[in-house]
Amino acid sequence: MSDSSRPGSANSNDAFNISEFLVPPRELKAAGQSYVSFDGLLQHPLLLKEDLKEGCGGQLWPAGMVLAKYLLRRHHSTLIDKTIVELGAGGGLVGLGVASGCKIGPSPIYITDQAPMLPLMEANIALNNLSSSVQAAVLDWGEPISDSIPKHPDIILAADCVYFEPAFPLLISTLHDLLGSNSVCYFCFKKRRRADLRFLKMAKKAFQVTEINDDPDSETYKRENIFVYAIRAKSGPNKAAGAAS
Ligand SMILES: C[S@@+](CC[C@H](N)C(=O)[O-])C[C@H]1O[C@@H](n2cnc3c(N)ncnc32)[C@H](O)[C@@H]1O
Repeated sequence: MSDSSRPGSANSNDAFNISEFLVPPRELKAAGQSYVSFDGLLQHPLLLKEDLKEGCGGQLWPAGMVLAKYLLRRHHSTLIDKTIVELGAGGGLVGLGVASGCKIGPSPIYITDQAPMLPLMEANIALNNLSSSVQAAVLDWGEPISDSIPKHPDIILAADCVYFEPAFPLLISTLHDLLGSNSVCYFCFKKRRRADLRFLKMAKKAFQVTEINDDPDSETYKRENIFVYAIRAKSGPNKAAGAAS
């Protein structure tokens, strides 16, 4: 991934609504490893390698922390027997958190991203001994989805995937391909720029989008412009309307 798709930090350029693509890239944070327990929700913290050399997914992002904590609190026991695919997984923060702290299986969770992120996802699966419950795969938004990934997974996870406007229609198209009539996507979004709201507008046109409010932390993270939505396929005759627009 090029520097042009690196999301800005919470305060970079926001006040001026300047596109980060016009701003020289900041120095890369050094590679390293961190323990993550999601505020004690995991009994055994994850050990996650972070390395930004292949793209922005090489570090942990705030919406990923929020989504993992929401799932650990509210979906600890609802994911058993479900097929689960994570989009834009980066190093696998959310999928690995769910695999460690929620009841899942027998299918593995598929954590997916663009090809350059595959080694980092695989390294983090290995570091946490989760190879029996997590599978890393390449899924490039807007591209045909490999047969090795469940066709209409029950659960789709996506955290901090809204930051690069040219990718909005690609992400919508992948959601359209993946969402079956029984699928739900837990989608955690941090609004950094006004343009990010365009993604939400596109999603509302194409899908049924409901804000999640049953998270005890929601008032706190909403103040940081982070929101969690449930996205489902539209039912009825107009279900494909707007999907690719
Ligand atoms: C800000 S990071 C979020 C990573 C992780 N979900 C988290 O919350 O820590 C966004 C991720 O989306 C991935 N991504 C961006 N464009 C993509 C595309 N066209 N297809 C697949 N993944 C993409 C990036 O590689 C990156 O890992």
